[in-house]
Amino acid sequence: MWNVGIIGSGRVGGTVARLAIAGGCSVVVSNSRGPETLTELVADLGPRARAATPAEAAEAGDLVVISVPVRAYREVPVEPLKGRTVLDTINYDPRLHGHIPELDAASITTSEMVQQHLHASHVVKVFNNIFFQTLRALARPRGAADRTALPIAGDAPDVKAEAARFVDAIGFDTVDGGPLAEGWRWQPGTPAHSVYAGETIQVANPGNAEKVRNALAAATR
Ligand SMILES: NC(=O)c1ccc[n+]([C@@H]2O[C@H](COP(=O)([O-])OP(=O)(O)OC[C@H]3O[C@@H](n4cnc5c(N)ncnc54)[C@H](OP(=O)(O)O)[C@@H]3O)[C@@H](O)[C@H]2O)c1
Repeated sequence: MWNVGIIGSGRVGGTVARLAIAGGCSVVVSNSRGPETLTELVADLGPRARAATPAEAAEAGDLVVISVPVRAYREVPVEPLKGRTVLDTINYDPRLHGHIPELDAASITTSEMVQQHLHASHVVKVFNNIFFQTLRALARPRGAADRTALPIAGDAPDVKAEAARFVDAIGFDTVDGGPLAEGWRWQPGTPAHSVYAGETIQVANPGNAEKVRNALAAATR
């Protein structure tokens, strides 16, 4: 089991923290306002959780989830994440976040942008295409017939495989979406994003592996 650092412990980060605790991991949660603002979350998560600064969460984590708004990605600390596997949940939607010219031009994906910032870390893109409440609701034990698959991207196969083992431990299958450059295939507006984007889960098994593969293949820029 992993020690999981969480940088950005809001809707998605908080949900991954809950699932990680349920899967037997320890977590260190952090946000921009300081550990004292995370007392309630930590009490909810129980004895295997504590709050710290982003740098401390980075240092404590075998795996570190970054789940901050895209505008804050450059504030994620570089040095403490050196050599670490970083799970990047960040999405870019200019209607919500303002424009980032490189992303508008599609010359780079969000996770490649994060990888450039965290140049000494190994970034893996996952959890980007699922609404946080859906993520919580659809976690299932390994082998469950209605288990959901999530696309995952990364440039280092061994790192991506470790991240996939973590995703499996907290309740989801994965579909290999290739390197970070392919992460646009499940960015907002694509079929693989909209499968899970709604607040209401429309169907019992919205994203088995085959459906996810088909949705990734159907994506257009
Ligand atoms: N909402 C979803 O269902 C969903 C689904 C998939 C992906 N995403 C993506 O996942 C990311 C997080 O979304 P969310 O909905 O969970 O956002 P959220 O609820 O607003 O949480 C954001 C978290 O990031 C923290 N944060 C902001 N700036 C920070 C900084 N400089 N350093 C450390 N922590 C910082 C916030 O802390 P403070 O409150 O202390 O500022 C908060 O804990 C976004 O990029 C979003 O696009 C969201």
